[in-house]
Amino acid sequence: MLAGIGDVAATSLITLYCHAIDTRSDNPILADAKSVEIAAALDRMLARSEEPLARTLVSRTLDKSIVIHIAIRAKKYDEYVRDFLSRYPDGVVVNIGCGLDSRFLRIDNGRVVFWDLDLPEIIAIKKDFFTENDRYHLVASSVLDYGWMAQVRRHKGPFLFMAEGVFMYLDGEDVRSLVLELKKTFPGSELVCEVENSFWLGPLTKKMVSYKLQRQFHLGEGALFRSGIRDSREMEQWDSGIRFLDDWSYFDSDEQKLGLLRLFRHIGWLRKTQWTVHYRLG
Ligand SMILES: C[S@@+](CC[C@H](N)C(=O)[O-])C[C@H]1O[C@@H](n2cnc3c(N)ncnc32)[C@H](O)[C@@H]1O
Repeated sequence: MLAGIGDVAATSLITLYCHAIDTRSDNPILADAKSVEIAAALDRMLARSEEPLARTLVSRTLDKSIVIHIAIRAKKYDEYVRDFLSRYPDGVVVNIGCGLDSRFLRIDNGRVVFWDLDLPEIIAIKKDFFTENDRYHLVASSVLDYGWMAQVRRHKGPFLFMAEGVFMYLDGEDVRSLVLELKKTFPGSELVCEVENSFWLGPLTKKMVSYKLQRQFHLGEGALFRSGIRDSREMEQWDSGIRFLDDWSYFDSDEQKLGLLRLFRHIGWLRKTQWTVHYRLG
């Protein structure tokens, strides 16, 4: 537990600092000034901690490759939103497990209604940096406590749900129930979600992934990858109304900073170690 933040919620500090480090680098990928402001403010709190994760964040010594990957991912998710808003300028976007990300500021077209949802300890921090208004809302709730859906349903939509770096931390049955509930409550909505390949979630491989998370990022034992799918079309089997639209992997990016890793796009099982899938629900 870092400064009252649970192990899974603490992963949002890593993505925030990745955005901040990227922004300060030459030719930034995401260029998100708000992340620099938030990280600078959090430095003051984290500098008092002896936790290895806090020291890594404050000293900006996160691994360069994770910074590049996370910035590429955030930029791609911004593109998903822009594409949705080009089709539905008054659409409603729900950023599930939003962390400390400032997507609303990056994509605001002056008309979108945007909901940022995360666990209470993250939304409490977020409230110090973001002001809610008619089009921007913060919800402090587990995504699995479906009460939040009633608030979002007040809008007429269309709806885009996104879960960037979130579903793998939830149990498989919970992800399945959530997707089915979204489909039932928001028929016709779109879902963009990052998934882990369940191949890596066997007993031995799961231990390797946990070791990497704990060793490389100094995350607590609660930050575990718990669920995944084998193929983009797997969710279609959960309900006949779920339709696969497209998918994307980090290695599909033409970002120069990715270097030779771009070649992984040609190797199916590497391309889909952890990737993003876009569905229509109902
Ligand atoms: C790796 S971070 C990603 C944050 C953000 N999407 C980004 O890319 O910067 C994972 C986020 O999922 C959130 N999360 C995990 N389980 C959750 C749940 N049950 N309900 C809501 N948020 C959750 C965590 O608190 C954390 O902010």
